[in-house]
Amino acid sequence: PADLFLPRLNSAGLSPADVESLHRLKAGLADFRFSSWQAGLPPDAAADGILATPRHSPADRHRLLGAVHGMNEGDVDQAYRQVRQAFPDWTRTPVSRRADCLRTLAVKLEEHRTELLYLLMMEGGKVLADAWSEWREAVDLCRYYADCAETLMAPRPLPGIAGEVNTLNWAGRGVFLCISPWNFPLAIFLGQVAAALVTGNTVLCKPASQTSLIAARVVALLHDAGIPHEALHAIYGAGRDLGNALTDHPALAGIVFTGSTATARHLNLQLARRPGPLVPLIAETGGLNAMIADSSALPEQLTIDILQSAFNSAGQRCSALRILWLQEDLKNPLLDRLEGALKSWRTGAPTLLASDMGPLIDTAALAQLQHHCTVTGHKALWKAAGTLTDAAEGHYFPPHAFLLHPMDLPDQEVFGPVLHIATWKAGELDKVIGRINASGYGLTLGMHSRIPAHIRQVQEQARVGNLYINRNQIGAVVESQPFGGEGLSGTGFKAGGPHYLMRFCVERTVTENL
Ligand code: SER
Repeated sequence: PADLFLPRLNSAGLSPADVESLHRLKAGLADFRFSSWQAGLPPDAAADGILATPRHSPADRHRLLGAVHGMNEGDVDQAYRQVRQAFPDWTRTPVSRRADCLRTLAVKLEEHRTELLYLLMMEGGKVLADAWSEWREAVDLCRYYADCAETLMAPRPLPGIAGEVNTLNWAGRGVFLCISPWNFPLAIFLGQVAAALVTGNTVLCKPASQTSLIAARVVALLHDAGIPHEALHAIYGAGRDLGNALTDHPALAGIVFTGSTATARHLNLQLARRPGPLVPLIAETGGLNAMIADSSALPEQLTIDILQSAFNSAGQRCSALRILWLQEDLKNPLLDRLEGALKSWRTGAPTLLASDMGPLIDTAALAQLQHHCTVTGHKALWKAAGTLTDAAEGHYFPPHAFLLHPMDLPDQEVFGPVLHIATWKAGELDKVIGRINASGYGLTLGMHSRIPAHIRQVQEQARVGNLYINRNQIGAVVESQPFGGEGLSGTGFKAGGPHYLMRFCVERTVTENL
């Protein structure tokens, strides 16, 4: 088991041509040099006495990447006024023109691939294969939402009585606030903003402060692609006052948010308290994602799918596997293989092609996981961990796996490379599905089985947004695998799916008597 073969670059579902192209790209990245990036800073910031916060790489605390200007409530008000004023013109722009901006942007993302990958690796801490699949998802989202918007927003003739014409029309709501996380600083950030803009909204975006620099690069590319400057503003920074200024502003017409369930609840409360129009919240939140493996699962394939699901991207995906439910008969063969595989798993600098996994995003994440693993380790019936293969001074944390009594499994999302395992006996599948549903989360679920009745039962009973059978459970593909959960995991509609754009719009029926 210690020599278990791990398909490294293929982990993101890359074709041989992609892998070849990645190797060429790696050579290009080695020659790539930057001075620094800026987020929210005007060119003459220093002369104007504007304070900038330095941004260092999570992969190397000494590596300065650029600077961010944290904004305040005054900046928020000014930005709202500008995007509110830009709304009538932008929403009257034909949808085909707005869609063409996204298509132009897709080309620009392709032209700037090396720079964006570098930022995903250095600011986001992603290994090259993860950065690559995120970049590709961002390009796909632009083209897919462009096509979806043109289909959705074409006026639809409706039946009616003679002498009357009925039409259903879709339009943007106003100013949309897009709040995005650090774990997909390109694809989720851009997916939200692109969806809001193409449907005729103007946008204030608030990227996670940990990944402000990449957001600033993407905003610049959006403007280059033809999105008017007044129609899209970015707000950089963090903190409760800034958050309240964003959600309390009277010009706000909708929020799209990806992040924790607790923050989604807070946003809901804020929206409920506001006077004036009712404002929708589109939320994609966390998951306590499980995988079920019965005794018919193939141990080699299962091991690889577990590793990818739990540890790719350092487990910092909302889709990642957190709890493995293993049928008792599989316990020994699987735990042996897992222990061997963890020994060969490489946690190291994202810029090394051999790294399977990069750093955690920041010191707070590192401290939380260290604490969680210490506490969980005391209760564990079995445990295994990887080692660090790189001595760089970043927020590195090797993968951990714990076999636990079902009573000791976590009931909240643990966001990082930590796998919790429990066993079940023949005849207990009902109980396992019940337990997974009882968590209240409903994002991804993996099922490894060659028994059709088991697969059918899981499909019928599990309340999850994305069910993956006999494969890994991460990396949903735009259009093919619309992504998003239910219950504590989000409101829908699914990102990268045919209905996503609908809640960014209002529907208007027009009846004309001829
Ligand atoms: N969409 C990502 C995935 O499927 C998670 O955010 O892994």
